[in-house]
Amino acid sequence: MQNVGSRASWQSTVPGTRIRWRVFARFLAIFAATTTITVLAMLVAQRMLRPVPAGWAVVFIELVGSGTAALLMTMWLHRRIQRLVHAIQSGLPARENEISTDPSDDLFAEVIPTWRNAVKTMQDRGQEKNEEARGHYETLKDLMRMIAKAVDERTAYLRGHSERVAAYAAAIAWKMGLDEERVERIRLAALLHDIGCLGIEDYLVMKTAPLTPEEFEIVKAHTVKGAAILRPITMLQDLVPGVELHHESLDGMGYPYGLKGDQIPLMARVVAVADSFDAMTTPRPYQAAMNADYVLDILLRLSGTRYDPTVVRALAELVTTGALEVKNVRTPVSFRMRKQVAELV
Ligand SMILES: [Fe+2]
Repeated sequence: MQNVGSRASWQSTVPGTRIRWRVFARFLAIFAATTTITVLAMLVAQRMLRPVPAGWAVVFIELVGSGTAALLMTMWLHRRIQRLVHAIQSGLPARENEISTDPSDDLFAEVIPTWRNAVKTMQDRGQEKNEEARGHYETLKDLMRMIAKAVDERTAYLRGHSERVAAYAAAIAWKMGLDEERVERIRLAALLHDIGCLGIEDYLVMKTAPLTPEEFEIVKAHTVKGAAILRPITMLQDLVPGVELHHESLDGMGYPYGLKGDQIPLMARVVAVADSFDAMTTPRPYQAAMNADYVLDILLRLSGTRYDPTVVRALAELVTTGALEVKNVRTPVSFRMRKQVAELV
């Protein structure tokens, strides 16, 4: 009794075994049906046909009988398999239920729940992986924000610069009709656009007086240094153009490579406008914060030579309609410091 019980529970927990038993039962049914039809065909032939058919005729009748039975069974099986395939392809629970509750389809009624469980397990695993990946991505974004803050915090007048440039760049990209994914990548590139400043010596980054030509050459390297920091990170490689080329100019007068027009990727053209807009609308030791409309005038005048006209137009529209909040941060810069800088200029 114990053996029978354990066998029953083993069978009920292994769907594959139950399916094998059902397939075997189907085989027996088909075998019995074809044999019956063949025997009936022979009996009918022997009783009805006069004179009694010769040996070759009997064989012929047998072949026709079993062929007909096999054909009927194949059609029946084909119809059932087709319904199963359609149910799986459609993925509609209603159709699965329709089959699983049909008593003539007990074999497939067994397959459908197994298939459904397998799909559900895969979906659950996929969802878990997605959530895990989303968690990693959020952590990575937090880290990027932290790094951007560390870059900005080196000097008082750059505080919040990267976050603002990121917000402006994302708003411009969205206004230009770019898809969500591209907007997000442009936002992240803008957030990290000055990451290369970490490779520039403190005295140059913190210098409030105008840079000498030699010093400016060193500072210009923050673009390629930033690219070198990001390039080894697979997930961030597509941000490299926004970091490396955000000081390029449409007329080829920018740096580090002096690229012209379409040679400059859109991501870099957007970051360039957002970066300049923030630099001019916030106070620096060498300049007071300028009014947003005045800055837009400057950017529009430089459209086509330095900046991409489409990008500047998108920004202008955002600002004039009030869709973009312009953050004129008041960083404490002493009057004495401004006076000193003004004298040096
Ligand atoms: Fe820069």
